[in-house]
Amino acid sequence: MQVEVRVVTTDHGKHFYNPAEIQVPIYSDKDEWELWKQRLDPVLHIELRRWASLLVIAPLDANTLGKLANGICDNLLTCVVRAWDLKRPLLFCPAMNTAMWEHPLTGMQIDILKGFGYREVPCIAKSLSVGMKVCFKSQLSRPIRFCVEY
Ligand SMILES: Cc1cc2nc3c(=O)[nH]c(=O)nc-3n(C[C@H](O)[C@H](O)[C@H](O)COP(=O)(O)O)c2cc1C
Repeated sequence: MQVEVRVVTTDHGKHFYNPAEIQVPIYSDKDEWELWKQRLDPVLHIELRRWASLLVIAPLDANTLGKLANGICDNLLTCVVRAWDLKRPLLFCPAMNTAMWEHPLTGMQIDILKGFGYREVPCIAKSLSVGMKVCFKSQLSRPIRFCVEY
């Protein structure tokens, strides 16, 4: 199976990877506003939601989880999700430390996303040196396996 991939990053997310290692187009908030200058110009988040047949949010942090559960769309990623065609699959992979994970909001917000028909790729616990657990370890094979099931 051949797939074409595009990455949408949040500005805070840019702290966690080296863009030089990503071999596909990366879009962020500045692209949204550089593409659109005047009426009739394309709107990037609409172009992306039109282009994609599958959306994988990996990792999904507590902040963006909260935004998505409440309909907030204040950056490129959350706009793509807010405009997403619910007939198309959306997978999300929560990732956060134990303290955030165990807060009651986390389960409530994940349930809201599942209620939209989005599919959770469950996180796995991993020990950190500070004695906390991070509740997600990047398991790229899992989202891919979930995708193939669709
Ligand atoms: C070093 C570091 C690691 C972080 N790891 C996580 C994480 O695994 N999960 C999470 O929910 N938030 C984590 N955060 C907090 C988020 O980066 C913060 O909520 C940020 O505002 C998220 O912005 P975004 O949702 O727009 O990407 C971390 C912050 C720092 C400084």
